Amino acid sequence: MNKALRKAVIAGNWKMNKTRTEAKTLIEELIPIAAKFSSCETVICVPFTSLETALELTKGTNIKVGAQNCHFQKCGAYTGEISAGMLAEMGVEYVIIGHSERRQYFAETDLTVNRRTKAALAAGLTPIVCVGEMLSEREDGITEAIVMLQTIAAFTGISAEEAKKIVIAYEPVWAIGTGKTATDEQAEEVCAFIRKIMADKYGNDTAEVMVIQYGGSMNPGNAAGLLAKENIDGGLIGGASLKASDFGVLLEVANA
Ligand code: PGA
Repeated sequence: MNKALRKAVIAGNWKMNKTRTEAKTLIEELIPIAAKFSSCETVICVPFTSLETALELTKGTNIKVGAQNCHFQKCGAYTGEISAGMLAEMGVEYVIIGHSERRQYFAETDLTVNRRTKAALAAGLTPIVCVGEMLSEREDGITEAIVMLQTIAAFTGISAEEAKKIVIAYEPVWAIGTGKTATDEQAEEVCAFIRKIMADKYGNDTAEVMVIQYGGSMNPGNAAGLLAKENIDGGLIGGASLKASDFGVLLEVANA
């Protein structure tokens, strides 16, 4: 497995933060910073209400725009939902799928994660599929079983060619927004395990080009150790993506 075959993806997950006006300010600060770092892919996953602003402002820059969810149907009576096709038509390129907050608070299941992932691929979006165990599951020693189940379920019915277009984010739930990061070794261990699941399903050639990120309290202080690991190809970053200077440090580390 060769890390050099993969381009790291540093993706900000803004969650339900920033009004459109605030988003404009942050993106204007980010643009000149991101311009200095081209050896990683820079993505900002903003709230739906800021997508248009983000797309306008980042035109011609090296920042890609992502959404934080999409529905699995193309259209229809699904009040409050947004389809993958609607996002793609705007120029959105990435979409986070199955984030643990959606699993915890919005009844997201492994089945709907799979359906959303397929819909995103069909629309030409790059899905960032999130998997990860809860603290009790880690303490019970079933991290690998949980991650295996979530990953296999998410990739059901997906071909090797499609799998190469998917980013996986390993996000231990206990590390999200808690300031409690997985150690470099804990994160690497599970990311390597996920790559092995992909290798068993699709073969080494596919697994070694797949981008597997770590997420969960990644910040300027801990990013270097995490991103140096063989199987960690970037990060999905919540809190530290809301300040241009912090996000800039992560980009710098990913480009080092
Ligand atoms: P955090 O969030 O960096 O604030 O822990 C990461 C995420 O939920 O994607």
